[in-house]
Amino acid sequence: MRLTQITQTWLAEILNEGDAVVDATLGNGFDALFLAQQIGESGKIFGFDVQEKAIQHTTRLLKNQACTKVFYPTGHENMAIYLPPETQGKISVVMFNLGWLPSSDKSIITKPCTTIVALEQSLHWLKVGGRLSVMVYPGHEGGDQEATQVITWLEKVCTKNTIFKYQKIEVPQRPTAPILLTVEKCSNQI
Ligand SMILES: C[S@@+](CC[C@H](N)C(=O)[O-])C[C@H]1O[C@@H](n2cnc3c(N)ncnc32)[C@H](O)[C@@H]1O
Repeated sequence: MRLTQITQTWLAEILNEGDAVVDATLGNGFDALFLAQQIGESGKIFGFDVQEKAIQHTTRLLKNQACTKVFYPTGHENMAIYLPPETQGKISVVMFNLGWLPSSDKSIITKPCTTIVALEQSLHWLKVGGRLSVMVYPGHEGGDQEATQVITWLEKVCTKNTIFKYQKIEVPQRPTAPILLTVEKCSNQI
């Protein structure tokens, strides 16, 4: 089983028709498509990416999905500025898939300082019982620091929530294997 399948299975458990969700890194739109398929026509998906082509890919991929789609061509660290204020505390799921856009400019990559700002905002926007998934890639340049800083931040700041870390065990272990971090918001205290 792939980590993406584990992520989707875990998120789908709590997603319902009509939910509001956020894809914090739209990329090619595959995660957004998964989310849109779970929330139906009365659902709302909000998305962020710093690359215009990610917004275009995702818009094309989701053209037959009936939910409300709002994609912002800006960094996820601006989430609190762009998301409608009435959605604060009402979002069911926020997905992060860090790193760079496959087959694209590898210098446009998520960075720990902005990722952590966005993760913090996500926790405020999630409802109690909502779920946050973060896929990190220690094999990408700078990805090992990003993984370490995100995990350290979660350990220090996110103590009121339930956090899991998944990484495939390999022999010999590949230190660059992707890591999935999952956070379930358990209370309004972060
Ligand atoms: C691994 S890709 C995302 C994959 C995507 N979720 C999918 O299903 O195809 C990472 C994306 O993060 C974007 N990104 C980089 N920095 C960002 C930032 N500060 N805010 C939002 N997106 C960012 C990149 O442009 C890239 O498209």
